[in-house]
Amino acid sequence: MNPTRRPRRLRTDGVRPLVSETELSASDLIAPVFVDATTDERVPIESMPGHERVPVEAAVDRVEEVLATGVEAVIVFGIPEAKDERGSRAWAEDGVVQRAVRDVTAETDAYVITDVCLCEYTEHGHCGILEPDADEDPTLTVRNDETLDLLAETAVSHARAGADMVAPSASMDGMVGAIREALDGEGYDDVPIMSYAAKYESAFYGPFRDAADGAPAFGDRRHYQMDPANAREAMREVALDVEEGADVLMVKPALPYLDVVSAIRREHDHPVAAYNVSGEYAMLHAAAEKGWLDLEEVAYESLLSIKRAGADLILTYFAEDVAERL
Ligand code: PBG
Repeated sequence: MNPTRRPRRLRTDGVRPLVSETELSASDLIAPVFVDATTDERVPIESMPGHERVPVEAAVDRVEEVLATGVEAVIVFGIPEAKDERGSRAWAEDGVVQRAVRDVTAETDAYVITDVCLCEYTEHGHCGILEPDADEDPTLTVRNDETLDLLAETAVSHARAGADMVAPSASMDGMVGAIREALDGEGYDDVPIMSYAAKYESAFYGPFRDAADGAPAFGDRRHYQMDPANAREAMREVALDVEEGADVLMVKPALPYLDVVSAIRREHDHPVAAYNVSGEYAMLHAAAEKGWLDLEEVAYESLLSIKRAGADLILTYFAEDVAERL
């Protein structure tokens, strides 16, 4: 019997581009940049081939490299010169991110986003102020409400340095509202917030914790980041961030959570971002190094799939490589 329906008709070379449903472009991509106050040289990040921590003096050069590939936006992470109990270098006027952002916004046309969190700045590596004795009792965790003021202060200091957008990633309740209020109070009502709205407690962040030196010294983040088992909870988290004034809604990680990306896309009109995290990058590199995968192909297919699932923006360590191919 001959088939009467032949979907293959639309797969010939001439027609494929006409019926293609998803297009990836360099303007969808955000490249992470690591600025390190403890070094005066560019230091390769071993578990993330092709990426480096750069000194503040090299931040402009690093961002120029990103721009040269066609990617127009960066998200800046900082490794401070010193850490303490409260993470006070996170909101310092002369902090590593603040200095880098001042230079980059003065000297380049990049759209500069900053990650707002305390884990790279606290000596215990948690994302906020700890309960006393948290190191001895794993059921104790971060003090939510006291942490909010510090996150708000950090976001304001980034805006003051010239950040175009702030991206809070600490997974504290009420974080978006607190930051919105603080930014508005200081006259930064035009600075948008990209919330890490559905941020999972994921093992895929492993290489990042090497890159940004923000691994918890004890315990883990399961009391504040989301349980990977939960998708409906993500919808509640996202709805709260929308109410609190988030402008862009992010899901993190990306590939293992594409169901969450598409659910948010269906339910909200806000732009949706997905963070293709360090582990997603590292595993493709590792397989490619062994000759088991074609890196360029799987990187492109990964980002295309994230877009197809409903993301408008993608934060990814593949940004430069993929943009160059586009
Ligand atoms: C800070 C932060 C993390 C990442 C982005 N911002 C680490 C974490 O939450 O543990 C992870 C990014 C990546 O893995 O690429 N809280």
